[in-house]
Amino acid sequence: MNIKLRLTALALAALTALPALGGCAASASGDRRIIRIGHNQSTNHPTHIALLEFESFIESKLGDKYDVQVYPSELLGSQTDMVQLTQTGAIDFCVASNSILETFSENYTLFNMPYLFASADAYHAAMDDEAVTGPIFDSTKKAGFESVTWIDAGTRNFYTINKPVNTPADLKGLKIRVQQSPTNIEMMRLLGGSATPMGFGDVYTALQSKIIDGAENNEMALVDNGHGDVCKYYSYDMHQMIPDLLIGNCAFLDGLSAEERAVFDEGFALINQVERKEWVAAIENAKDKAQNEQGVQFLYPDTKPFQEAVAPMHDAILAKYPDLQPIYDLIQGYNAEYPSTAS
Ligand code: GCU
Repeated sequence: MNIKLRLTALALAALTALPALGGCAASASGDRRIIRIGHNQSTNHPTHIALLEFESFIESKLGDKYDVQVYPSELLGSQTDMVQLTQTGAIDFCVASNSILETFSENYTLFNMPYLFASADAYHAAMDDEAVTGPIFDSTKKAGFESVTWIDAGTRNFYTINKPVNTPADLKGLKIRVQQSPTNIEMMRLLGGSATPMGFGDVYTALQSKIIDGAENNEMALVDNGHGDVCKYYSYDMHQMIPDLLIGNCAFLDGLSAEERAVFDEGFALINQVERKEWVAAIENAKDKAQNEQGVQFLYPDTKPFQEAVAPMHDAILAKYPDLQPIYDLIQGYNAEYPSTAS
């Protein structure tokens, strides 16, 4: 067991022991109830910065009652582990990629569709519209958790150790790490690469030991997770804009008074605002560092052949989940309003 795994196992053991000890999963510190929030990014990441603002905000308003604790870097486990901990109430919140939530509720499949959004502006406008997000965010309530805000995670693109990807044909024979979601596996199949699903925390070692030939993610992964130390080609095929979600345990959220809930809702909105603002600067910085310090070459392929290869997925997903059609149509409205600016 490596050190990180051991820490995770210890953290999980400690957390799951809490109900037995105190009867309540999220224990109290003094008279204050501890609120635990887990995520898988580093402490430099916009997500962490935004969650610390949330911590300050909640404690400035309700600090006599709540002690918010933010656990970065998979300290509480992988995203899948953390979703399960949130589901049972062993922790109160975690940040999860929309990709992995697809296995908890089929509604989340929608935001995993490749080339769903025509532009970043269309993506942001759609995600800010509760008519789009509401039916998706609420769809896991029966499973014990719900999404309380979305977090920008940019655009996902392919990057490889030593083979530039300019067309889908370049992916043939390459083992590419994808997030653990049926949609992502199907996307890779249609693009001709070999999908290798694994958790985010395992990707660096898999690249370094050449178990995989590449991965796909936003630019932060190059710098913040060191993937750009190994992968020298980053190809802007722009296949997905997949949001992260802050998910919360329903029993905790439903137990808040109306006044407290209003404060928490303000805090959730703050996370979204802070993260999006930080994101813009973080991506610029990541691009600069990747290019100038890690020697990563950025490629700008024609995205059309990639888009055409995966286009059948839209109809296939909508045929399988017809309830998603009205939300898909709303998104098409935003796509018409904010079309791609790419030439
Ligand atoms: C991004 C995203 C994470 C996700 C990761 C991944 O970094 O923000 O939530 O876990 O991609 O590829 O797994």
